[in-house]
Amino acid sequence: MSVQYFEKERVFKLDTPNSSYLIGIIDEENFIGHIYYGKKINSHELTYLLRTEEPPFVPSKNNRDRLSFLDSCPMEYPTHGLGDFREDAISVRTVDGHTALQLSYEKHEICPGKQKLTGLPATFGGEGECTTLKLHCVDRILNLRVILSYTAFEDVDVIARSVEVINEGTKEIYLTKVMSACLDMDNRDFDLITLHGSWARERHINRRRVALGMQGVSSVRGESSHQEHPFMALLEHNADDEHGEVYGMSFVYSGNFLAQTTLSQFDTLRAMMGIHPTDFCWKLEPQASFQAPEAVMVYSAEGIGAMSRSFHDLFRNHLIRGEYKDKKRPILINNWEATYFDFNTEKLIAIAKQASELGIEMLVMDDGWFGHRNDDNSSLGDWFVNEEKLPGGLKYLVDEVNRLGMKFGIWMEPEMISPDSDLYREHPDWAIAIPGRTAGLCRNQYVLDLSRQEIVDYVYGRISAILHSANIEYVKWDMNRQLSDIGSIGLDADRQGELFHRYMLGVYQLQERMITEFPHLLLENCSGGGARFDAGMLYYSPQIWCSDDTDAIERLEIQEGTALVYPLSAMGAHVSDCPNHTVGRVTPFETRGYVALAGTFGYELDVTKIPEEDRNRIPDQVKMYHAYNDLVRTGDYYRLASYSENHKYDCYMVVSKDKKEALVTFIQVLMRPNYHSRRIRLKGLDPNKNYRIEGEERVYSGEAMMYAGIQVQNPWGDYQGKLLHIVEV
Ligand code: DGJ
Repeated sequence: MSVQYFEKERVFKLDTPNSSYLIGIIDEENFIGHIYYGKKINSHELTYLLRTEEPPFVPSKNNRDRLSFLDSCPMEYPTHGLGDFREDAISVRTVDGHTALQLSYEKHEICPGKQKLTGLPATFGGEGECTTLKLHCVDRILNLRVILSYTAFEDVDVIARSVEVINEGTKEIYLTKVMSACLDMDNRDFDLITLHGSWARERHINRRRVALGMQGVSSVRGESSHQEHPFMALLEHNADDEHGEVYGMSFVYSGNFLAQTTLSQFDTLRAMMGIHPTDFCWKLEPQASFQAPEAVMVYSAEGIGAMSRSFHDLFRNHLIRGEYKDKKRPILINNWEATYFDFNTEKLIAIAKQASELGIEMLVMDDGWFGHRNDDNSSLGDWFVNEEKLPGGLKYLVDEVNRLGMKFGIWMEPEMISPDSDLYREHPDWAIAIPGRTAGLCRNQYVLDLSRQEIVDYVYGRISAILHSANIEYVKWDMNRQLSDIGSIGLDADRQGELFHRYMLGVYQLQERMITEFPHLLLENCSGGGARFDAGMLYYSPQIWCSDDTDAIERLEIQEGTALVYPLSAMGAHVSDCPNHTVGRVTPFETRGYVALAGTFGYELDVTKIPEEDRNRIPDQVKMYHAYNDLVRTGDYYRLASYSENHKYDCYMVVSKDKKEALVTFIQVLMRPNYHSRRIRLKGLDPNKNYRIEGEERVYSGEAMMYAGIQVQNPWGDYQGKLLHIVEV
């Protein structure tokens, strides 16, 4: 049993394979204190860490210093307004205008497995895979119940947390902040790792020292965003890829978020993660409940690499669903960089014909097939085929592509509406806007108000009709602007603060309906590249487009940052043409293939127009994908060198779970003259097995490859790469 309650000490203990998490109930008022999170321990007798015998004593013994107690005690879920002046995890506003609350433990439930979160993405696990603790806490004055849920997994060092708030009073209450997880810790000279970027350079890794006061990352853009990312890791200052304690937190949500640390006067650190309180205000009617999204926490005593592998296993086994969860994805060719908006049936069939001869398995038709969309200024919302471009409609095109032995996929951007669209002309009020204020455009488009069920139903009707109209086996679901001018005519004045979250619930509902009605569909999420590459989206789509930047060298940093949290199986990555459309760089075709191999693998080019020598390399790349994708998709990922840090070369490897096989990718970014080979120490192999590098005779022991290393010959020239396939002998 991975969750235990020790009644005498009033302690809850949650265990994962290598970590323990302890919660204590304190004093007569039943405060919920945080005792410990870290390396697995047997003992539960750690209540001395709550320091309830030292001054400031608990309020029942010494109410004179109640505030000192509240402001220093490590709390599980700190509340607002009564004397804990550190950041609070929850705050409210009553009809009388008061903002304070106090939570006291009332009862608990320990249940096998894990319940779904209604309408929200969340990790899953059945009996024997995980156990859930539900701590019921109440504020007796407000009659507010807060249920703190903790799920401890049996096979991975993860604790998943979420929070439900129920109004058991007779008057409405406004929730102004509901974080999903809070962690009170002693600061051990921690660093903070977060991910940052912009369009075309998403998720670059940033590591800095935790400093006094507040630090963190957030988004108030209505999406998890290009700029900052719903993830953070706290780690010992000297921790590296293989050593040191690391605490990772990831938010299973795709909208506004806040991930924050506060280092306070007593060197205690409070970390929290949840929906960003800016513009959030949720009206809770009597008997109504609010479910906050899930945050997942990983503990690693063995450095950053082990944290990443835990997240990868969690997401692959307990978050991603559907037919493609454990399946190889078809190699696709997408026409975006090939044609942009300038395509028709004839052009697409020509691309498909050539692609099918080279072994590519699916054609994806990108933006521009509907309404009168010939650039990005119109037609979003008019999900009707443009028969001028596609005579005979989708059915004809898809049948032709199928006849070539290829699958067919389609691009959609269902959340948007162009001012120049029939839909907008008919329903101008369907766009998110503040009455009386002209809403700002972005890429010349507005966002549909998906907090309104009739709009969600309409959009779903169009998606469903399109998918029924032909044999469409893949959807690229795009989202190309941030949310601003937050206003909905469907919400009362005192519910406008619900719009951001209700919008996300609308998006999740749409995707859930789609994958339920079309269970064989492969869904790839996308948001102007990688603005919504998050754990929330992974619940609906097994893969997400990583970035619009397809340059192999730019991708090294983007994919390194992405793989810090997400499995390679989820990273949308394609080989594109050169000079690269974003950065103008020319890289070898092989290198572009090696880099895309670390993701889903596909093409983003006009295969009828690329140089013949590149085209001739495609069949070998297709073979390479089929030879290694099972390993890449399912194996353990190890970082051997970090291009983000050294800015010279990149090196990573994937090892099969049975340690019989591994694939090392080495990319030399800039050639170093008179520097012929590099010693690379491999990781994750079995020290007692013997291995060979495919194509070579020499046999190495696993321990030699890992502890002493191998010599990798530097390729000649910039941007060159190589793969080393390592097999057990
Ligand atoms: C942004 C996506 O990231 C691109 O791949 C492409 O689909 C365009 N949108 C189309 O508008």
